[in-house]
Amino acid sequence: MILVTGGAGFIGANFVLDWLAQSDEPLLNLDKLTYAGNRENLASLANDRRHVFVHGDIADSDLTGRLLARYTPRAIINFAAESHVDRSIHGPEDFIQTNVVGTFHLLESTRGYWSKLPAGTRERFRFLHVSTDEVYGSLTSDAPAFSETHRYEPNSPYSASKAASDHLVRAYHHTYHLPVLTTNCSNNYGPYHFPEKLIPLMIVNALAGRPLPVYGDGQQIRDWLYVQDHCSAIRRVMDAGRPGETYNIGGCNEKPNLEIVHTVCTLLDELRPRADGRPYREQITYVADRPGHDRRYAIDAGKIERELGWRPAETFATGIRKTVEWYLANQDWVSNVQSGAYRDWVEKNYGGRPS
Ligand code: NAD
Ligand code: TYD
Repeated sequence: MILVTGGAGFIGANFVLDWLAQSDEPLLNLDKLTYAGNRENLASLANDRRHVFVHGDIADSDLTGRLLARYTPRAIINFAAESHVDRSIHGPEDFIQTNVVGTFHLLESTRGYWSKLPAGTRERFRFLHVSTDEVYGSLTSDAPAFSETHRYEPNSPYSASKAASDHLVRAYHHTYHLPVLTTNCSNNYGPYHFPEKLIPLMIVNALAGRPLPVYGDGQQIRDWLYVQDHCSAIRRVMDAGRPGETYNIGGCNEKPNLEIVHTVCTLLDELRPRADGRPYREQITYVADRPGHDRRYAIDAGKIERELGWRPAETFATGIRKTVEWYLANQDWVSNVQSGAYRDWVEKNYGGRPS
C-alpha cells in the first residue's frame, strides 16, 4: 500500500479519489483534519476497504512509526501542510510547526522504517514531497519561467516554510540516501478547493451576492493547473522519477488574477445568471493588496515532459468550466465548509482591508 498524508485536503483528497479510481492498491491516509481537512471530501469511500483513514499529525513520530511498522507502505506522498499565504501572514507559527517541524519528524520516522527494509524493498521505496513553485519567489514580467535550478527566494512565511521543508527532504537524500522525490507545482484549481483561495472564493462569493475582493491592481500572474493534472503528474513522478531529483509541474497557463475573476464571472453569467440579469463582474471590489504580494509565478515544465512524458490533459477553458459546474452542483459541500471558523477567517482577512 501507499501512505498519503494530508489526504483530506484539496489536492490530497483529489489524489486519493483518483488513486482508488485507477488502482486497487490500498491507501493509508493520515490527516490532522485542520480547518482545511474535510472527511466529506472522501465520503464516497466510506465503505471502501482499500481506504484506511487515520486522524493524526505528521509531527507525531510515535504514531507515524507505528503506522509504518503496521502497514509497511512501499511509498509515502506528503501533501500535509498549512497552505494558505494569507493565513501565514496573519499567523506563521502553524506553518513552521507543520511544514517544517512536521516534515522533519515524518522524514525521521521514514528513515527509521526505510533503513530496516529488506534490500530490494528499500531500493524501490519512494518518499515524494509535494511542494510549490512559490519557493522560487517572484518573477518580473519578462523573466524566464522557473526551472528546477532557479534559486530559492521565498517571500511569504508560507513559501519560506515550504522551502525549508524542501531543503530537509533534499538533505535526507544527500546524507542518508533516502529515495526522495520533490515536486514543485503551480497554483491548482478544481473540486474540493477550500473557499479561502482565489477561484473558489470568487465562485462562492459571486453566488452569495457578496463582493469579489481583488487584491491591489489584480495584475499579479499565476500559472493555473487543474488539480487532476497535478495528481497525474505526481503518479508519474512516483513511478518513474529519479530519486533525489526535483520536478516542476505547471499548466503552461499564466493569467493575471483579474482575468481569472472575469472568466469565473462570465461562466456564472452563462450557467447561473443573476436574478436581476446584471453581470457578476459588477461585484468586483478592489481591496488593499496582500503584504509582500508576489507579482508573477511561471513554471517551466520542460523537465517532466522531456524525462517522464507528462503533460497536462486539461486546458484552462475546460478545467475552469468543470470547476464552476462542480461548485454549482455541490452547494451542500459549500455550505458545510462555511462554518463559524470560516466566517471568522473572512472577517479577519477582509474586514480590516480597506478598498
Ligand atoms: P490544503 O490546505 O487544502 O490541505 C492540507 C491538508 O493537510 C488538510 O487536509 C489538513 O488537515 C492536513 N494537515 C495539515 N497539517 C497537518 C499535520 N500536521 N498532519 C497531518 N495532516 C495535516 O492544501 P492543498 O491545497 O491540498 O495542498 C496540499 C499540498 O500541496 C501542500 O503541501 C501545498 O503546499 C502543496 N501545493 C498546493 C498548491 C495549491 O495550489 N493548492 C500548489 C502547489 C503545491
Ligand atoms: P491564492 O489562491 O491565495 O493562491 P497563492 O497566493 O498561493 O498564489 O491567491 C491567488 C492570487 O489571487 C494571489 O495573487 C492573491 C490573489 N487573491 C485576490 O486577489 N483576492 C483574494 O481574495 C484571494 C484569496 C487571492
